Amino acid sequence: MRVLVTGGAGYIGSLTTLQLLQAGHEVLVLDNFSNAKPAVLGRVAQLAGREPAFEQGDVRDGALLRRLLAGQGVEAVMHFAGLKAVSESVHKPLEYFDNNVQGSLSLLSAMRDTGVRTLVFSSSATVYGLAETMPLREDAPTGTTNPYGRSKLMVEQMLQDLAAADPAWSLCALRYFNPVGAHPSGLLGEDPQGIPNNLMPFIAQVAVGRRAALQIFGRDYPTVDGTGVRDYIHVQDLATGHLAALGHVHGRPGWHVFNLGTGRSHSVLEVLRAYEAACGRALAHEFVPRRGGDVAQSWADPARAESALNWRAELSLAQMCEDSWRWQSQNPNGYD
Ligand code: NAD
Ligand code: UFG
Repeated sequence: MRVLVTGGAGYIGSLTTLQLLQAGHEVLVLDNFSNAKPAVLGRVAQLAGREPAFEQGDVRDGALLRRLLAGQGVEAVMHFAGLKAVSESVHKPLEYFDNNVQGSLSLLSAMRDTGVRTLVFSSSATVYGLAETMPLREDAPTGTTNPYGRSKLMVEQMLQDLAAADPAWSLCALRYFNPVGAHPSGLLGEDPQGIPNNLMPFIAQVAVGRRAALQIFGRDYPTVDGTGVRDYIHVQDLATGHLAALGHVHGRPGWHVFNLGTGRSHSVLEVLRAYEAACGRALAHEFVPRRGGDVAQSWADPARAESALNWRAELSLAQMCEDSWRWQSQNPNGYD
């Protein structure tokens, strides 16, 4: 297939682009480099043995999208482009609705006008809000606690309305749990700008000497050891899940939603210990109060994806940490 990948220079988009190329698909990447470096694409090409087509631009640019989609044989879109930092979204809500909601609306309008009817959208387990019953199934109630989460839920609702209005569309939301890790070559990984918001990239920067100590947010949660519990999924498994979802939904009209998680749960301390094993030394850490807005625990019931997509997350927490460490130690300053 020929696939347009928005945000294909980003962390998850680049690894998925690589897998698409390796599976024999043609890929056209659209990215505005607001959170990515051009060097990523060279590394994707190095690993794939061929280059993805690339256009620098913005998903909110409807004219550009129509040009990219019209008459170029694009059959499907994977839509990764967007902003993703929860705390930033609280301070800059309009930027989040503009990039994430308006960006998706602009993309869907261009797809409608050019006859492209298959979309795989990057959603998030954040749409389950403050749910307390684990594991989370796709039919669990949704709810949101911040503008980022609302932007994802709004796009999901837009997709559902569109699928209901016009049976020609195949629209799929993938609700990611906590993507971590890197390509096993150490050439592609997560390169956060500034202070990392998320646990594993923060630990990685402590391990490589860029940060003094991990702050562990809360040790009084009702969990196995008092620290927050999540469903960490290797980004390689996540990318494989996208290919499986694309294969499933293309030519199968309607609204589709799948959790992409492992169904396993790990505490912050378990992740820290696994990372210490991967990098071979103890890592400085301290306990601080809970971070506002965090849930105690969150993990997926991945049964729907496993049965419908014939996909399952295979890689362990140890492999996530080993691949993250290989990437971080080979690229201490990311792609710079
Ligand atoms: P990322 O920031 O690494 O990738 C996003 C890419 O989109 C970047 O390359 C950025 O330059 C590009 N981009 C942003 N706005 C754009 C715009 N308006 N036009 C064109 N390009 C634009 O993030 P990621 O971790 O790879 O996440 C990809 C998607 O998955 C996002 O939609 C994110 O919300 C979602 N998601 C991520 C996580 C996670 O923990 N990483 C969890 C759940 C969902
Ligand atoms: N944590 C720390 N110290 C840190 C960072 C995180 O103790 O420096 C803890 C958190 O309190 C939480 C766990 O590590 O218990 C995981 O935190 P992350 O920030 O890595 O991940 P979240 O589950 O909070 O959020 C992630 C994404 C969101 C997405 C959500 C659900 O960042 O965008 O998963 O998909 F919405």
